[in-house]
Amino acid sequence: MFDHVRNTSMRRVYPRLLGDFILIHLSMVAAFSLAVTSLAALGQQVAVQNLLSYFPKYYLGLFLPLSPMFLVVFFLSGFYTKAYNGRYQLYILLRGGALAVVLFLTVNYLMFRSDLISRSVALWFSALALTSITSTRIAKRLLLRRAEGTVRSSSRSAADQGAVLVVGGAGYIGSILVRRLLEEGYKVRLLDRLVYGYAPIRDMLKNPNFRLIAGDCRNIQAVVGAARGASSIIHLAAIVGDPACEQDHQGALEINYAATRMLVEVAKGQGIRRLIFASSCSVYGANDLTVDERSEVNPISFYARTKIDSENALLQAQSEHFQPTILRFSTVFGYSYRPRFDLVVNLLTAKAFQEKTITIFNGEQWRPFIHVKDVAEAILHVMKAPLSIVGGQIFNVGDSRLNYTLSDVAKLIKQTFPETVVEQVENSDLRNYKVSFEKIRNQLGFRCRLSLEDGIRELKKALELREVFDYKEPSYDNQKFLKSVTAFEHADEIDARVMAAFAGEEHRNGKVPTPDGQGVAASAEPVPSIANCTP
Ligand SMILES: NC(=O)c1ccc[n+]([C@@H]2O[C@H](COP(=O)([O-])OP(=O)(O)OC[C@H]3O[C@@H](n4cnc5c(N)ncnc54)[C@H](O)[C@@H]3O)[C@@H](O)[C@H]2O)c1
Repeated sequence: MFDHVRNTSMRRVYPRLLGDFILIHLSMVAAFSLAVTSLAALGQQVAVQNLLSYFPKYYLGLFLPLSPMFLVVFFLSGFYTKAYNGRYQLYILLRGGALAVVLFLTVNYLMFRSDLISRSVALWFSALALTSITSTRIAKRLLLRRAEGTVRSSSRSAADQGAVLVVGGAGYIGSILVRRLLEEGYKVRLLDRLVYGYAPIRDMLKNPNFRLIAGDCRNIQAVVGAARGASSIIHLAAIVGDPACEQDHQGALEINYAATRMLVEVAKGQGIRRLIFASSCSVYGANDLTVDERSEVNPISFYARTKIDSENALLQAQSEHFQPTILRFSTVFGYSYRPRFDLVVNLLTAKAFQEKTITIFNGEQWRPFIHVKDVAEAILHVMKAPLSIVGGQIFNVGDSRLNYTLSDVAKLIKQTFPETVVEQVENSDLRNYKVSFEKIRNQLGFRCRLSLEDGIRELKKALELREVFDYKEPSYDNQKFLKSVTAFEHADEIDARVMAAFAGEEHRNGKVPTPDGQGVAASAEPVPSIANCTP
């Protein structure tokens, strides 16, 4: 809960502390005025007189010295140091605000019983303090969003002609990739709904080669506006992971599949030839042989099916003027500006660090892994390669040296955390794929630079330095987080209709068609614990 307290620039925090201090005091003065007015309206003149004579003493003698307590609770709740979004932001604000009010009233009661605040003032104050603290922040967030989405986009639209458009670039992979693109001298536009907040990309907002367009990849206007004048597109936006997609098939279908189809049309309309699509090795599903790009896919989750359908849509749209590249990423690990602890290596490392026990499900199944920084390097390799080599191609992204069984992963974690107890459990998760990465190595010269051990050590350091205080926080887990926010809701009805058209008849009711014609439906049973960690 307190990881955000570290690395906090107090220069940015002081004005906000002052703002909240003023709000709390205004709430108390307003509460007092409202209590007096309501008592007067009820004809309780004696109570009004008592309140008028008592309030200055209470305010100056008790409330003023106690009021910094609010700021301490707000600070520890992450009000000044973390970027939350949507319904989750409201939840955090109400939780922090309510905690501060309850704490204040309790201290008030325990320490100053003889000088208790009147009940009507306390009630008004609680309501006003909570409303002012939450509403000012939400209003600020809405104004910022508008400013980022419109002012920035119009003021710089001419200056960033030829930029790379990264869709979904504020996430785990994107926040590393965008920085690398800027380092390499690219101009970058980022279209993202900022589902997980804008903290991972905030420090880039001042970079003249960077433009943020806060918007939904399902909104045709946002996508057309973002793509205008761009030279290429990297499409990362998605509801990522099997468990997150299981929560809402319709939403995942739209974001992962229908929005991709729409992006294809927009790219073709704007004459953008290069589009790099983030797919996943989980399309191989359950496969006993080593698989390569020509192997049959065998998806066993809704998430994987949305990826395959998107791949097919992209490859079918391929022409001389539109040359997409499909990248099937291995399961990613490592630390990023948007850390995720719902990925198997990251989660097991955090568990070993914090709980000293890890549970491995079906330890003998193979998975390929890749460090998040190497994913960004692989994308850069593809960006720099001629379209004659990468256009219309599928590449597995990883390194044959990083194919491991989950038992191997447990052993490596135990090397870094020797006291870890490893428990092995069998369950119904069938995913098993050992992947060949010869193609990306031979054609693009790509090899991973970072090993699994490097990633485990890096995560250990971040955990030791308390950069992550509690890895179980919902913001580190897509499924948990998406439960608490309105990630799937449309801004308006037109978006819903456009998405229905791009999803197509056969995808009605959030089903992705399967060869047997039944479609993948929501699984009856969620897959437990570690097995829930998927790319
Ligand atoms: N992380 C992995 O292990 C892994 C493995 C294989 C493939 N991938 C693929 O890589 C891509 C990036 O994954 P990640 O790990 O960075 O995930 P992430 O969840 O951290 O990032 C996803 C990003 O997409 C954005 N987004 C979601 N819905 C959106 C919408 N409607 N409009 C605009 N933006 C939206 C989010 O705000 C977020 O910034 C995804 O396509 C994922 O399927 C990831």
